[in-house]
Amino acid sequence: MSAANTKNMQAKTTTIADIGRHEGESVTVRGWLYNLRESGKLLFPIFRDGTGVIQGVVAKNAVTPETFEAVKHLTQESSVMVRGKVRADQRAPGGYELDVSEVEVVQRVPEDDPYPISLKEHGVEFLMDHRHLWVRTPRQAAILRVRAEIIKAARDYFDDRGFTLTDPPVITPAACEGTTTLFPVNYFDQEAFLTQSGQLYIEATAMALGKVYSFGPTFRAEKSKTRRHLTEFWMVEPEVAYATLDDIMELAEGFVTFIVKRCLEKRRADLETMGRDASLLQKIDAPFPRITYDEAVQILQEGHAKGALETRFEWGGDFGSPDETYLSAQFERPVMVHRYPAKIKAFYMEPDPQRPELALCLDVLAPEGYGEIIGGSQRIGSYELLRERIREHGLPESAFKWYLDLRKYGGVPHGGFGMGIERVVAWVCGLEHVRETIPFARMLNRLYP
Ligand code: 4AD
Ligand code: MG
Repeated sequence: MSAANTKNMQAKTTTIADIGRHEGESVTVRGWLYNLRESGKLLFPIFRDGTGVIQGVVAKNAVTPETFEAVKHLTQESSVMVRGKVRADQRAPGGYELDVSEVEVVQRVPEDDPYPISLKEHGVEFLMDHRHLWVRTPRQAAILRVRAEIIKAARDYFDDRGFTLTDPPVITPAACEGTTTLFPVNYFDQEAFLTQSGQLYIEATAMALGKVYSFGPTFRAEKSKTRRHLTEFWMVEPEVAYATLDDIMELAEGFVTFIVKRCLEKRRADLETMGRDASLLQKIDAPFPRITYDEAVQILQEGHAKGALETRFEWGGDFGSPDETYLSAQFERPVMVHRYPAKIKAFYMEPDPQRPELALCLDVLAPEGYGEIIGGSQRIGSYELLRERIREHGLPESAFKWYLDLRKYGGVPHGGFGMGIERVVAWVCGLEHVRETIPFARMLNRLYP
C-alpha cells in the first residue's frame, strides 16, 4: 500500500454509495476530483469514487492552510483521499454532503497536461478516442452499472429456472448466421472463423441437458455503420429441448420483462442519472403483443399510405431500421413478430407446416423505436431437410456433419433465441447508439482504444 493509504487517514473508509449509513460521522472517501467550484472562503469540490458523486465543502477556517491550498489548486481527475464529516442535505444530489477536514492527494494531474475531457461538450469521435477516460463520467459509469445488472439478471433468470450454462467455442469452423459477416481466423493454416452465435453448439448441449443457455462474445463483420450494429457484441442464448415456437415466445417475454423489472428495482438512481424516463419502462409486462410477419407488412404498408414511411414495404423483404422503428413505435410493450418468410432467415429454421414458405421464428422489437433485441426460432427437425438447407445456403457440409448428427440420434423438436445485450442496454438506458453500451466498442471504424 502507498503511504497515502496509511498516513493520517484513520477515519472509517466508506464508499459514496454507502455514505448515508455514516451520517454525523467522520469518514474517508477514496476517489477522484470530478469538479471544483470556489466561492470566497469556501471551496466546493465534487468527488467521485466509482459508486457515486458527493459534494465536499472546504471552509478556510476549518482546515489547515495547506489543505485549503491543496484543494484550491486541485486539478480535474486528480486522485485524492478525503476525510470529512457526513452531513445530510436534502438539496444535494445523493442527499449528503461532506464537510472536509483533510485531503491527501494521491496523484495530481499536471496543470500543463490537463485531463482531456473537460466538463463542456465534446464531439462523439473525440470521446470515443478517449473512451478509456470517458468511462469515468458519471453518466457513462451509470450505463455500465445498468449493463452489469442486465447481465446478472439474464443469468439469474436462467439459473433459477433449471437451465444449465454451457459455453460454446469462440473459434468455429463454419458460419451460423450467413457467410457475409464472418471474421476469418488463421487456425494453424486451417480456415476458421470467430463465432457469430453459440446456437448450433448449444443445440447439442440441449440434447444432453434439456434446458441450456450460453452467454458470450459474438462477432459479425458488419460493414454497415448503423446505431445498432457492433462487430463484437455479447449474446445470451437459451436453447430448450422439446420446445415449440410458442414455448420460445413465452420464454422471451418472461425473460425481457424480468430484466426490465430488475433494472427498475436495482438501478433506479442510475436511470435517473441518465435522465431516462422510467415510466415508459414501467409499462413493460407480459404478455407482449404478437403479430405475424404478414400483419407487420400490413402495418408498414398502411404507414407508407399515411406518409409515415418513405418507401412502400413489399412482402418478402427483410425489415430495415426505419421499418423496425415504425413497427415498434406502434406498441408500448415489446412486440413479437413471428413467421417471417424462410428465404430471408437463417438456414436452420423449422418451416411452418401450414405454410412451408414461412419459418417458425420470432423477432422481438423493443418499444420507442429501439428495434430488434431478440431473434429466435424453432429448429429444423428433419435430417433430410436440414441437409438440403445447408446445401442451398452454400455451407460446407463437412463442417456440419456433427450438427446433422443431432437429427439422427434422438432428434426432438427444439428451439431458442439470442438476445443482444448491447441492444437491450441501449433500450433500457434510452441511448441513441450502441457504442455507449459496452466499455470498449468495436465497430467498422473503431478498433482503438
Ligand atoms: O437475430 P440474430 O442474428 O440471431 C442469432 O444469432 C441466433 N443464432 C440466435 C439464436 O436463436 N440462438 O442475433 C440475435 C440478437 C439480435 O436480436 C440482436 O439483439 C443481437 O443479437 N445482434 C447484434 N447486436 C449488436 N450488433 C450486431 N451486429 C448484432 N447482430 C445481432
Ligand atoms: Mg435477427
